[in-house]
Amino acid sequence: MRTCRLWSYRIANPVAHFPSLAWCVPRSASRLRRGHHACRGAVVVSILLLAACSGPQSALDPAGRGAERIADLFWWMTAGAILIWLTVVSLAVYVMRARPEPHSPRRAALLIIGGGAVLPTVILAALLAYGLALLPELLTLPPAGSLHIAVSAEQWWWRVRYLPSGGHGEAIELANEIRLPVGARVAFHLESPDVIHSFWIPALGGKMDMIPGRQTRLALEPTRTGVFRGACAEYCGTSHALMSFDVVVLEQADFARWLEHQQAPAQPPVQPLAVHGQELFLANGCGACHTVRGTPADGVVGPDLTHVGSRLSLGAATLSNDPEAFQRWIANTDHVKPGVHMPAFGMLPPEDVRALAAYLDALQ
Ligand code: CUA
Repeated sequence: MRTCRLWSYRIANPVAHFPSLAWCVPRSASRLRRGHHACRGAVVVSILLLAACSGPQSALDPAGRGAERIADLFWWMTAGAILIWLTVVSLAVYVMRARPEPHSPRRAALLIIGGGAVLPTVILAALLAYGLALLPELLTLPPAGSLHIAVSAEQWWWRVRYLPSGGHGEAIELANEIRLPVGARVAFHLESPDVIHSFWIPALGGKMDMIPGRQTRLALEPTRTGVFRGACAEYCGTSHALMSFDVVVLEQADFARWLEHQQAPAQPPVQPLAVHGQELFLANGCGACHTVRGTPADGVVGPDLTHVGSRLSLGAATLSNDPEAFQRWIANTDHVKPGVHMPAFGMLPPEDVRALAAYLDALQ
């Protein structure tokens, strides 16, 4: 009771006991004006923040079943937080402005326990129950016969393998780009040979850690076509921020055509510059690290380059995909991506780098 009486006195004289509350007691016209300006500023900032919710890498602009649930949870949590905040601020205003006289101990206890403890507990418990209820749907693995994709996070790129359906045939290895059929639930098998990375396509669903020595699973189900962006969500070394990938969601028929094309070996180059580039590629030992199916190049250290020219970007979404970007990458690898394992080939004559770029660009 003694505590309640003390608090009742404090609630009645808040500014004297909590000087930090002084800002919210307007005393003059100029202070009121300042308050209005602050309000207008807050509205502008809110609009700008909400405008940033859209885009290819936004969890609040969902394009997948899991992301939709997560976005719903985010908005319910935001609503809960606003409700708690409004209640607490309303109580503060009530005791300072509407009823500044001392309250009875019983009334003070009601305000403090009701508004400060019971209401937040009820709201947070409801949000916890709602969040837990979403888990089974988010964790459900796809039915048998679904598409399975193994992704291995390397420093600092993504090895992507489309696993054969039913375990027959060979996996198709690609890099730094994932294409998915719309409306199908896809199983991801995630692993890492070096350090912990985290696989995240915010527009499609939640993130999942990739832990050396373990395989983690994730299921995603895109609900609309489009180009999205995935990222590594766990600090994994110098070029962690230069480790993204493109995600293209296609209609089922387009996806089947694309996968069939990716499965095919590389077409031999036709243009003289590209033909010379292929000779240089093999002569300079590029094939010790990279595979180009249909040629003697069969290295497995770096990304598979069989159809590298058809990808949307280079260097794990670091550069656009065009001959100039290939030249920049080959000659200045370590500047484009600090710490990268591939050595820079800046010692090659510029015309050789141009020929190599023409060859890689022709690998459509
Ligand atoms: Cu890989 Cu951060």
